[in-house]
Amino acid sequence: MWYKKSISKLVAEAEQSGEGTLKRTLSSRGLVALGVGAIIGAGLFSLTGIAAADHAGPAVMLSFIIAAVGCAFAGLCYAEFASMIPVAGSAYTYSYATMGEFMAWIIGWDLVLEYALAAATVAASWSQYFNEALKIFGFTLPKELLYSPWVEHHLSDGTVFSGGMVNLPAIVIVCLLSLLLMRGTQESSFVNNILVVLKVAVVLLFIALGWQFIDPANHTPFIPVNEGETLLKNGEIGFFDFFKEGYFGHYGISGVLRAAGVVFFAFIGFDAVSTAAQEAKDPKKGMPIGIIGSLVICTILYVLFSYVMTGLAPYTDFKGDAKPVATAFGKTGYHFLNTAMIVTILAGYTSVILVMLLGQSRVFYTMSKDGLLPKIFSDLSKRQTPWKTNLIFMVFVSVFAGFVPVSDLGHMVSIGTLLAFTLVCIGVLVLRKKNPLAERPFKTPFVPLVPILGIIVCVAMMASLPLESWERLAIWMIIGVSVYFLYGKKHSVLRKEIESGESNGSGR
Ligand code: ALA
Repeated sequence: MWYKKSISKLVAEAEQSGEGTLKRTLSSRGLVALGVGAIIGAGLFSLTGIAAADHAGPAVMLSFIIAAVGCAFAGLCYAEFASMIPVAGSAYTYSYATMGEFMAWIIGWDLVLEYALAAATVAASWSQYFNEALKIFGFTLPKELLYSPWVEHHLSDGTVFSGGMVNLPAIVIVCLLSLLLMRGTQESSFVNNILVVLKVAVVLLFIALGWQFIDPANHTPFIPVNEGETLLKNGEIGFFDFFKEGYFGHYGISGVLRAAGVVFFAFIGFDAVSTAAQEAKDPKKGMPIGIIGSLVICTILYVLFSYVMTGLAPYTDFKGDAKPVATAFGKTGYHFLNTAMIVTILAGYTSVILVMLLGQSRVFYTMSKDGLLPKIFSDLSKRQTPWKTNLIFMVFVSVFAGFVPVSDLGHMVSIGTLLAFTLVCIGVLVLRKKNPLAERPFKTPFVPLVPILGIIVCVAMMASLPLESWERLAIWMIIGVSVYFLYGKKHSVLRKEIESGESNGSGR
């Protein structure tokens, strides 16, 4: 359980070139584009409005900054690992080298919550903008085919709808993109690059055009009052009553913090850059630039975007609105651009789904190569794609996208990702202690402060998520641990090598 892969062996494996290995084609700029491709999506285009309406008001831009600072701590830790161990398995492989096989398994299993379920979440919100785009052709889909069952949906017109059957467009987009991935990584990367350019263009256009229509009245009050905070300050209610009475998170400072937990989703994906480490031309330099660079660019764009959005319409207008960009942009004089904007946003969502599905298949591919998962997950097609993994995840992700409510999905993604970030921060601390002399092309600054702050922020954000997310995380992990003991441990390639004496480079 505690066998570790040796770093020198991992690096040697990663440095191999030729047939059967991944091609090094990505420049630093390409890596930044990949990060931006994975980051900007439903979090910005859907959650900004909800976070403003329900929690932070116009101060949602502060929430973006808080979430970005939290991600930056984890991002700096990722950058150290990714430049040091530039292999495709990302956090899974870093744990294999630092905390041993069992922890690596836990993180690999946990990453399904991040990658596969993020693809499902974004696909589920994709369908809302898709339906809006259908209006160009003069029709829309019936609500029954747009919403998951088992939950009431608060629609933007103020009505409540509870007769959903399936989120059909979400299933269709997941299937189409999985088929594209099966066709080939190069084709997928080509499509992704086009989508990224479109997506960044729409964000810049929204900021530039919307800026002139900002009504300063919409930004006042900047932080709407939370009555509970005033009562708490005056000693009229106690600390626990503040939480019990449901004051926490409904505007005020606590609302800004709660909104930071919500918009954290918008930053998920920067770590996907690290899964491309084996395809980077110069990973030692490119990985830190790709990870930190994409985070910085997205943070600047997010803050400006949310400033404009909450300036265009009163934050209360975004309540229950899954298409806040359309609502906000409707207030500008550029109505004729509304449709183009929606179609481009759809393209932006599509790139997130694509990169997430790709990242998921790479992690399972690596785990299967290590023997921890059946060989089916690393079988390659003639076009060098792990098509069976893509097919299996096509079904898995479709079921979640079609039937599970978006907010439940989003919370599971956040808790899963935060756990992965926490473990990566712990990994940096462990490796600095156990292997202080290893070559580190990029060093996380102020160790142990930065990893410790990373752990604190991630755990605090996890704590702000609903109890059900914790229960679901626990259930998912119990299933994972069972699979490890029933299958992974027995078939581990590393364990077989070490126990037969073939490998001495990887000890406990
Ligand atoms: N960060 C990605 C998004 O917001 C997951 O869609």
